[in-house]
Amino acid sequence: MARTLSFTLNGKQVVTTADGSRMLACVLREDLALTGTKIGCGQGLCGACTVLVDGEAVRSCSTPLAAVAGKAVLTIEGLGLQEKLHPVQEAFLDHHAFQCGFCTPGMILSAYALLKKTPRPDRRQVAEALDGNLCRCGAHVRILAAVEAAAQKGGAK
Ligand code: FES
Ligand code: FES
Repeated sequence: MARTLSFTLNGKQVVTTADGSRMLACVLREDLALTGTKIGCGQGLCGACTVLVDGEAVRSCSTPLAAVAGKAVLTIEGLGLQEKLHPVQEAFLDHHAFQCGFCTPGMILSAYALLKKTPRPDRRQVAEALDGNLCRCGAHVRILAAVEAAAQKGGAK
């Protein structure tokens, strides 16, 4: 059943009328035109749809819209600006940490969530934080290096 609910999206208040049982990833992409959030498996398995809710990395393909009412959602569109990328995004570019890029928004947001809590993670901590984010292109080694480089450049900002 449609209901009106509000949440903060990339720093701005959003009021939407939608079925609260719809998955957040679909609402972001279809209703709010934020297609940076990708849907891979759609079953909570691959991490492509990762966004942050109140600072925690969550899988938006399996998070009902109603669950984010009153909370703060951050998508890849809210992390950096086109003219000024976030340090984690810059590090991914510098380290060629993607091929098709489909996993990249989720990887970057999971990395950002890690760096907010653990600004100087070791490689094991980075690998654990990204364990649920799959890259079918096999860029994992470069991704780990990018996150370590981002940490050195203040990626927790
Ligand atoms: S699309 Fe959400 S976990 Fe795969
Ligand atoms: S860059 Fe293609 S899935 Fe990761």
